[in-house]
Amino acid sequence: MASPVTVRTLMEMKKQGRKIAALTAYDFPFAQMADEAGIHVLLVGDSLGMVVQGEATTLGVTMDQMIYHTRMVARAAKTAMVVGDMPFMSYQVSMPEALSNAGRFLKESNAAAVKLEGGAAVADKIHAMTEVGIPVLAHIGLTPQSVHQFGGFRVQRDHDRLMEDARQVESAGAFAVVLEGIPADISGDITRNLTIPTIGIGAGLPCDGQILVCHDMLGISSGHVPKFVKQYAQLREDATAGLRNYLDEVQNGTFPDKSHSY
Ligand code: KIV
Repeated sequence: MASPVTVRTLMEMKKQGRKIAALTAYDFPFAQMADEAGIHVLLVGDSLGMVVQGEATTLGVTMDQMIYHTRMVARAAKTAMVVGDMPFMSYQVSMPEALSNAGRFLKESNAAAVKLEGGAAVADKIHAMTEVGIPVLAHIGLTPQSVHQFGGFRVQRDHDRLMEDARQVESAGAFAVVLEGIPADISGDITRNLTIPTIGIGAGLPCDGQILVCHDMLGISSGHVPKFVKQYAQLREDATAGLRNYLDEVQNGTFPDKSHSY
């Protein structure tokens, strides 16, 4: 069995030019499949508010919900590094609250790290967390918890601000940074200027790694598929076909047959 992925593994991968494959996961079976496939990082994203709970934004997700889902994912992960995503208002209000909520991910759900959104504005929180031994994955660019501030899910193009955010989270001690919704030339510049790995989503090829939302890339989510999502499977179609088949067979009396009866 491969050895568990740690913050040091990810740093080494950047140095060696080996790409990092990250994915979101929210429950045991999907985390187990991703772990067995060899995905390096499993992020229990607050995107679960949208793809699991069916909400329009991530803003309503709570700490207790995050802990519940992260525990399931951590139970499944044998080698992948599990990162718990800090939900909206779990780290913004005060330093003590930010620290104790970050600590809950490691104490109560067995995550190996936390993620939080924001650049320069949260550098003090990142510093405090890493000082007490909580590894932090930073997240800059199109940060979905600021959807109302941005006026929608909009690509972020302010080169200097993004570079400054990236530099500040690196100086604060983040072990890697997610770049979301950023033009590829800017993410390339950031990636070349940082010593920590960049993990892109809608940020093009130059990043040190990529992350996608599991339900989007496996074709489970319904509705609009963003440009940056590549669908590697069509599980929604397959599942719906299976469900219709089951309905038909129950109704026409062909299920259960002898081989499925005692
Ligand atoms: O919540 C999430 O899933 C995320 C990723 C898309 C990076 O933040």
